[in-house]
Amino acid sequence: MKKIVSLFLFLASLTMLFASNEAEELAVEKCGGCHLMGVVSKEKLKNMKAPPYWAIAKKAKEAYANKEDKINYIVDYTLNPTEEKMLFPVETKKLFGVMPSQEGKVTEDEIKLIAEYILENKTF
Ligand code: HEC
Repeated sequence: MKKIVSLFLFLASLTMLFASNEAEELAVEKCGGCHLMGVVSKEKLKNMKAPPYWAIAKKAKEAYANKEDKINYIVDYTLNPTEEKMLFPVETKKLFGVMPSQEGKVTEDEIKLIAEYILENKTF
C-alpha cells in the first residue's frame, strides 16, 4: 500500500512539473518576444518591446486582490487591449504603444496557463 501511495505521489509531482514546464514554454512562445519571458540576456534587454512580465504581475497584484480577478484581467487584456484599460502609465504607451491584440494567436485556455505562470514566477 505504501508503495502505491508513493508511486501515486511521484506521478502527481511529475504531472505538476510538466504542467509548469508547459506554461513556461507557452509563455515564452506566445508572449516572450515582447515581455522578456525565459532567460534574460543583454541583447533582449536592449531590444525590449514591452514591459517585462514581472511588471505585469506587479500591476495585476496592485489592482486586484484575488487570483481569479488577476487572471481574468490578463486574459481579457491579451485578447482585447485598449488604452482605457491600461494599468501601465501613459509613459509606457509613449515608449511602446498599446499592445496589439493577440486574438487568433493564443487561446483563452493558453492565456490562463500563461497568466498563472506570470503571477507565480517572480524573477525579481
Ligand atoms: C508584439 C508585442 C507583444 C506581445 C507578443 C505581447 N504583448 Fe503584452 N504588451 C505589449 C505592450 C507594448 C504592452 C504595454 C502597453 C500596454 O499596456 O498596452 C503590453 C502590456 C501587457 C499587459 C498589461 C496591460 C496593462 O497596461 O494593464 C498584459 C496583461 C499583457 N501585455 C499580456 C500579454 C500576454 C499574456 C501575452 C502573450 C499571450 C502578451 N502580452 C504578448 C506587447 C506585447
